[in-house]
Amino acid sequence: MPTSTSNMDKLEASLLDRSTPLDNRFRTLFTIKGLATSSDDHLARAIQIISKGFSDDSALLKHELAYVLGQLEDVRALPVLRSVLSDLGQEVMVRHEAAEAMGAISCPSSLPILNEYLNDVDVSVRETCQLAIQKIEFDNTQKGKEIRQRNKLAKSENKIGDVEAAFAPIDPAPAMSSSEAALAAAAALEADSKDQDDSSSSSFTLESLPKFRSVYLDPSLSLFERYRAMFSLRNVAHSGGREAAREAVLCLAEGLKDSSALFRHEICFVFGELCHPASIPSMLDVLNDEKEHEMVRHEAAEALGGIVEESSQEGEASKDGFQNVFDSLKRWAEDMECPRVVRESCVVALDEMAYNNDPNQFQRVEV
Ligand SMILES: [Fe+2]
Ligand SMILES: [Fe+2]
Repeated sequence: MPTSTSNMDKLEASLLDRSTPLDNRFRTLFTIKGLATSSDDHLARAIQIISKGFSDDSALLKHELAYVLGQLEDVRALPVLRSVLSDLGQEVMVRHEAAEAMGAISCPSSLPILNEYLNDVDVSVRETCQLAIQKIEFDNTQKGKEIRQRNKLAKSENKIGDVEAAFAPIDPAPAMSSSEAALAAAAALEADSKDQDDSSSSSFTLESLPKFRSVYLDPSLSLFERYRAMFSLRNVAHSGGREAAREAVLCLAEGLKDSSALFRHEICFVFGELCHPASIPSMLDVLNDEKEHEMVRHEAAEALGGIVEESSQEGEASKDGFQNVFDSLKRWAEDMECPRVVRESCVVALDEMAYNNDPNQFQRVEV
């Protein structure tokens, strides 16, 4: 049944009302995102509503608004994203997400502004612009076009078996095949690769994990190639079977020692997608480390919010592990000394836990 304009008006009022609790505003945003896919009118209206939210005082909400605009994959969102990236008054995390969203929309008209901010004062913004440029350039190669076309088709046909399409979000870099990983690693060693295996989704196996690992952990390679290997490892975790999943998650966790906060925050984001119990110890370490970059701690909090109690089937997220997650999230949600974006992420994560588990166990945390 079509959604009436008045429904969209109500959603707009709820999203933009600063007195509404943040977790409710997040749910409203996801409702708007869902409705945007139902018709072009709704899509246009959704972009218009979301664009009005950038004067809010919550960086967490604004970065999510930018993220959603990217995921809607529509060029009508580009003007507001450009203005957010150029606004030095916006928080770094929000500007980063605006640049990443331009990468997701993948229109070559974004290249000039992304090039301009390659010299930004903030390293995470610079790195994001570099990634977005490389993604847009890659997407517009023959191979990139084929991958995007295949993903779009698989998504529209809802082919869950297709690994590259199984994850709905548009990744900031496309996963690489094991043969591409071998080539990248060989190029780093200035040697020829003899690896000739195919580039299909069949390469996301336990056997190909070492190839992805060597690219993923090699600081001499570009962030774009290392991101590609990261998403390949995610695909291994998703589709390579139980043993591969655990190995891939532990391998991904090794990347948390990297010097780039952007790289570390993306690992936490991937853990949020996977919700694998083997990621809990490393995500708790990140969240509880007060010296860690707030953008990374924020993603760790959100990743922990997705962990469900049933994950104890893996034998790793025992009741104790689950309780530790809850206790840490609650601790930082209530700590007024904690950076606001981390605190708010914990509130949203607790809401998600309550939603995914028994709501009777949880009480809203007021901040
Ligand atoms: Fe991000
Ligand atoms: Fe985030």
